[in-house]
Amino acid sequence: MISATTLRSVLGAFALSTIATTGAWAQEKITVPSEEAVAATEVPTDAIVVNIEKMKFQTPELTIKAGETVYWVNNEVMPHNVAFKKGLVQESEFRGDMLSKDEAYAITFNEAGTFDYFCTPHPFMRAKVIVE
Ligand code: CO
Repeated sequence: MISATTLRSVLGAFALSTIATTGAWAQEKITVPSEEAVAATEVPTDAIVVNIEKMKFQTPELTIKAGETVYWVNNEVMPHNVAFKKGLVQESEFRGDMLSKDEAYAITFNEAGTFDYFCTPHPFMRAKVIVE
């Protein structure tokens, strides 16, 4: 099933012509509830959270179940994002919206796997999500 939000996230990551020729929707491994960063105050109190502080993802390795949503929250002034190399979303890198201080970004993981990620402006910032 492809939700409207998934469709928008893919359209943001790919040239329209690529989609038209491949149409590989079944490979979608994530759903993005919101393409844009949201206020950290909107993160549910019982959410699975990875805090970003001191130029690090504070949970280097996070294990979740398929279908669960991870919220990244930036707690410092330096902007950060969450980016995945190709393979998570078809054949392109996936870049989450840049997070200012006290902003959050959510990704729902639909399939099992190990997903390494990094911060685009700071590639030394690395961590992983393991989906069981
Ligand atoms: Co960063």
